[in-house]
Amino acid sequence: MRVLVTGCAGFIGSHLCEKLLEDGHEVVGVDALTEYYDPGLKFKNLERCLDSSGFVSTLPASGSSAASLQALNRAGSKKRS
Ligand SMILES: NC(=O)c1ccc[n+]([C@@H]2O[C@H](COP(=O)([O-])OP(=O)(O)OC[C@H]3O[C@@H](n4cnc5c(N)ncnc54)[C@H](O)[C@@H]3O)[C@@H](O)[C@H]2O)c1
Repeated sequence: MRVLVTGCAGFIGSHLCEKLLEDGHEVVGVDALTEYYDPGLKFKNLERCLDSSGFVSTLPASGSSAASLQALNRAGSKKRS
């Protein structure tokens, strides 16, 4: 099954994504990377998902967290290549 997870970089969303991937599902993750707490922690939350070929993120490319997002996407690209 392909599952859309909103808030995928957060505490609950990232754990849900990991569990879905472990169970063999494809995951499309959406997150606005808000700065309620350090967006760097959100990158850490998503590290294991980024290692999975079943994970696709559709994160915003502009906004106040653009730098974090770019770092996240770069890291994900490296891990997937
Ligand atoms: N963690 C808990 O123990 C707990 C318990 C009960 C309820 N909740 C609720 O569950 C939800 C998630 O909790 P959490 O601990 O994972 O929070 P979190 O802050 O770690 O994660 C929420 C994620 O949603 C993202 N986000 C916020 N607004 C967004 C938007 N408009 N579009 C896309 N992404 C957006 C944030 O960037 C963040 O990564 C919250 O509503 C929280 O109140 C959490």
